[in-house]
Parts: sequence; C-alpha cells; structure tokens
Amino acid sequence: MAKSEFGVAILAAGKGTRLKSKRPKVLHEIGGQSLLMHVIEAARSVAEPSEIYCIVGHESDKVIDAVKETGVQFVHQTKQLGTGHALQMLKAQQMVNFGDRWEDEMPENLLVLSGDVPLIKPETLAALKKMHLERQAAMTILTAVPPSPKGYGRVNRMSPGSDEVAAIVEQKDLKPGDAGSPEINSGIYCFKTAALFENLDKLKNENASGEFYLTDVAALLVEGGQRVFALKAESVDEVLGANTIAEMMHLDAAMRLATAEKLMAQGVTIFRPETCVIDAQVFVGPDTVIEPYVQLLGKTVIGEDCRVRSYSVIQSSTLGKNVLVRHGCILEDAKVDDGALLGPYAHLRPGSEIGEAAHVGNFVETKKVKMGKGSKANHLSYLGDAVIGAGVNVGAGAITCNYDGVNKHLTTIGDGVFVGSDSTLVAPLTVGAGAYIAAGSCITEDVPAEALALGRSRQVTKPEWVTRKKAAAGTATSIVVTPKAGTKTKAVGKKSTAKKAAKKTSPVKAKVVAKGSKQKGVR
Ligand code: UD1
Ligand code: CA
Repeated sequence: MAKSEFGVAILAAGKGTRLKSKRPKVLHEIGGQSLLMHVIEAARSVAEPSEIYCIVGHESDKVIDAVKETGVQFVHQTKQLGTGHALQMLKAQQMVNFGDRWEDEMPENLLVLSGDVPLIKPETLAALKKMHLERQAAMTILTAVPPSPKGYGRVNRMSPGSDEVAAIVEQKDLKPGDAGSPEINSGIYCFKTAALFENLDKLKNENASGEFYLTDVAALLVEGGQRVFALKAESVDEVLGANTIAEMMHLDAAMRLATAEKLMAQGVTIFRPETCVIDAQVFVGPDTVIEPYVQLLGKTVIGEDCRVRSYSVIQSSTLGKNVLVRHGCILEDAKVDDGALLGPYAHLRPGSEIGEAAHVGNFVETKKVKMGKGSKANHLSYLGDAVIGAGVNVGAGAITCNYDGVNKHLTTIGDGVFVGSDSTLVAPLTVGAGAYIAAGSCITEDVPAEALALGRSRQVTKPEWVTRKKAAAGTATSIVVTPKAGTKTKAVGKKSTAKKAAKKTSPVKAKVVAKGSKQKGVR
C-alpha cells in the first residue's frame, strides 16, 4: 500500500481539571456538538478516518462511544502524563501493530490537533500543511498573537521576524519576571512522523507540571539540526483553547456567530443574530428570515423564502420552501413541506410529516403523523399515530385517542374528511374519504367514505323552561347580585324569596357581579 502523505493525531485523553466538571472536557459541547466532534470534522479534511488516531484516556469508554461512528482509530493513554506522553502511546501502539515496518505503514507526516481547540478551519490546516511540505520542515507550528497570551505555551522564534522557531516555553515554566513571547502555540502542529518518533523518547518531565510536554520536541529537533517553522493563523479565534467553562462559552458564542454570519452571507436574513442559537450544521436557504430569539438546532435544514418567527425552537427538522413558522413553535425531528403554516405555539414531535400548504395552528400537538396536502388542524388538538389525507379539516379540540393504556394504535383519515370540533377519534380507527364527523362526537367505529357519523347524545331542548321555572317561583323580575369580595351589595326585587329561588333553580341562576359598592342591579 502506498504510504499516505498525512495522518492526524488528536489529543483527547485529558481530564480537563480546570473545567471542574464530571464530563470529560472533549465531550463538552459548543455550537451544538462536542469539542471532539468538531475537531474530528476538521481532521477529516486532512485524512481518512483509518488514519485519524484519537488518543483517549480519561473516561475513554464515554469518549469512544460518543465518536465511534466516525470510524476514527483509538489509542489508549491510560495515565495522562502529558501531551508528549500521549504521542508516545501512539508510537508504542504502532510498534505493536507493525514492528519494524512502522515507518512503511505510518503516514509520512502527522498533523497533531488538540481535542480542546475546536474552531480550527480546514483552510488553515491546508495552509499549515502547505508550509510544512514546502519548507521540508521537521515540525511546523500554528501560532497566533491573542490579546492575552496568558496560560498558553509561548513560541520563541530563532530571531525576530524569522520563520523558524527555536523553542516553545510553557507559561508555567517562564522564568520569574519574564513576560514571555506574545506569540502563542495553538497546540496544532505538523510533524515528519519519523522525526517526531525519534525524539519522543528523549522527552523529560522535569518542568513545572511534571509532565512530558510535546512542545519540548521543538527544541529537541532544533538541537538535532532539524528545522522547525511557525505559521501565524489569520484569525486568533480559530486557535483559542477551551480550558474553563467561561472560555468554552466564549468559543460557543464565536462559533454561533460565525454560523449566523455564514448563513447571512448566503442570503439569509437573521435579525439580532446575537439572540439566536444556531448550531454549526444547520442549513438555511436564501431569502428566509429568522427573527430574534430563535433556536435552530442539530441537523436542521430550512428551505428558501421561509420565515421563522421569534421564540421558535427547531431541532433536527427539515422544512421546505415558503414555510411560515409563527411565534413559539417547537419542532423536533419533524418534516414540513412547502408552503405550510405552523403555530403560533404548535408542537411538532418526532415523526410529524406536515404536507404541502397544510396548517398546524395554535396549541396543536402532533406526533408520528402524516398530514396530507392542504389539511388543517388549526386549534387545540392532539394528533398522534395518524395518517391524515389531503384537504382534511380537523376542528378545534379534536383528538386522536391513540393509546389504550398498553399499546398505541393508528387513526387513518381519508382525503377531504371533516372532523367536527371537540371530537375524539378512538384508535384503531379508519375514517373514509369525504366523511363528516359531527362536532362533539366520540367515534369508536370505522366510518365509511362520504358518511356522516354522530357519536354523541341527542340534544334535548325544552322551550320556555326558564320562564316557567321563574314564574313558578314568583321571581320573574328578580335577579340575584353576587358581590365581589369586600363589596356590600343589595339584591333588588323581593329580597328573601329571590335568594331562595336562586338556590332551587340553580341552572338558571343569573349572576351579575357588582362593579362597585353603589351598584344596585343589572346594567
Ligand atoms: C497545550 C500546550 C500549549 C498550548 C496549548 C494550546 C503542551 C505541553 N502545552 O497546553 O503550549 O499553548 O495547549 O491550547 O502541550 N492531553 C492528552 N493527554 C495528556 C495531557 C493532555 O491527551 O496526558 C490532551 C488534552 O485532553 C487536551 C490537549 O491534550 O485536549 C491539550 O492538553 P491541555 O492540558 O489542555 O494543554 P494546555 O495546558 O492547554
Ligand atoms: Ca488546552
């Protein structure tokens, strides 16, 4: 097999003590995905997963579990004795795998990435690789000059303005009174694999942290007569590390703003982008408008000419073109076709598929529902486990009763069905095309196409019932005044009998709330 030019090693074994968190640092999330996932994505721009070596240690089971689907290789660093030690573990594993043949089997160069430097862009890695190859360097370091270099390793150039590096000095190891170079080590480097492996065993841990520093390889290479170069990154943000929660949230904000800016550059209008939470993988088509305080999460895809109004949260959902999401909608794993209208306050749960130009309105909850073209459920409904045809009208408050306490059942509603308000459709149930369900029905049996189904008790109307009752009690002109708490009120008419009559004939008791203490009767 021809040897490949570049492999990638990702350092992800550390605990992240400075985070003070139970979760391993590289599994903390920014921009909607773990730090490590961001770094693996960057690594994939350089090498195939079979040549991406992810060095894991602290809580390695959890870390491996979180990213194994990417197909990257794992190297165990059981004790975290430093970044240099992490690469010693990679070397040791390759020795076990390949013995003396390791040099033929390993990629010729190794790009080293830090699991906690997640904003790095493929373009910057490409520039670093280019410099490394052109200069035939043993090591090429990506550097930056941030406003505050505190906490980072400092890069000492051979001489001011030189491309070449003499050494990297960790912040902790600066001599007292030495402010150190303002140029920081990003923790991202290219190495000639052979040159790196030759020097790893020479590392010593006689330093402020008692660790084997990968950064010391720079000086070792220079001592051995090899050349070490540095490339200054164009953007400082790209190489910032995340060692504390505050630093991580800074990176999160930077990443989300970068995502919003990328979308705006593609023709999306985002009002007050700083109030929106948009994950890195979200795609939005041009001429779509995103209002303030919207969250677009996961792998959400939104077509062109849509509008997402304030306070809506859209998670891992796909929206077609020209969809209007009114205020306060929540969508999870839902699919919405062109021209549909949602909300305000609609809740589309997983498996909701809303057809073209369909409406799902105020306080309607859907789950595992297919809703056909032009169908409408505009008010206060629960529609779960249902297949709803085209042109169906679901009246206010209609509900599919999908759960019998043990199992879930399906409701099938044909094209053009009219479901009257406040109906309950007890599944399993099929309503044929064009059928009518009368308002307030409880439907338990299948309804054939074009039929009218009524499932409610017949209305009984008793003409002049009230008049007769009042006359019998002799209270035709009396009205009871119910006082507001703390107000003195009087009943008008025959006082004592009025109260008695009101008690006896409570269904027709007329209540008028007194507006003020002086009020005497009906207005
Ligand atoms: C490191 C660099 C520093 C640089 C900074 C950039 C060293 C000695 N220092 O410092 O020059 O400016 O990154 O962000 O390399 N890790 C392991 N195994 C270990 C120790 C760490 O895999 O034994 C991993 C960590 O999980 C992390 C990465 O290596 O992803 C960097 O380690 P960290 O302790 O954060 O190094 P810094 O102190 O930030
Ligand atoms: Ca770090």
